[in-house]
Amino acid sequence: MQKDNQIVVDGLTFIPYLKREEIATQVERVGKEIARDYEGKQPIFLCVLTGAFVFAADLIRATGLNEAKITFIRYKSYEGTSSTGTVKQIIGLSDDIAGRDVIIIEDIVDTGLTACRMIEDLKKQNPASVRFATLLFKPESSQTGFTPDYIAFTIPPKFIIGYGLDLDGKARNIPDIYVIKEA
Ligand code: IMP
Repeated sequence: MQKDNQIVVDGLTFIPYLKREEIATQVERVGKEIARDYEGKQPIFLCVLTGAFVFAADLIRATGLNEAKITFIRYKSYEGTSSTGTVKQIIGLSDDIAGRDVIIIEDIVDTGLTACRMIEDLKKQNPASVRFATLLFKPESSQTGFTPDYIAFTIPPKFIIGYGLDLDGKARNIPDIYVIKEA
């Protein structure tokens, strides 16, 4: 439901936060940073499902790295609008990453628990390097001190939806990003 630019999902009201044009500008910037850092290399992008699929689609095209591969992995830690504190791997990695330069693509780093768990899991498979790209980073929510290598936006610790990010599986299709309206 949409009214006065507000969106209601599962009874919660969200207001506009980042427009698609601003998102595109920052995704292009991060894409160029990655292109510069991996020039002449053949990295493997690891898109973290489900939320990062929209960002990953735009980011890999912004890098222009035609020799790079993309693969997918799935972790889950959120229920509703908050972290459960427990990170579960749901779909594993199908590609061999030994000796490869891996770039994880995530939608958002909140507590940092998913990121740290993922990096720990991947390092067991002896990649040449692991770096982390995120669309959104909430440093004030961190429980780990983890800082991503590539960040499109640093935001306050508020719940957001759109551009791949969901509320219990809904709202991923929204092209702009919305933030929850405080009472
Ligand atoms: P972390 O493990 O707490 O860093 O959380 C990472 C995961 O939580 C992300 O991949 C998202 O799926 C989910 N998440 C964290 N914050 C938000 C949010 O504001 N909106 C939607 N999902 C979120």
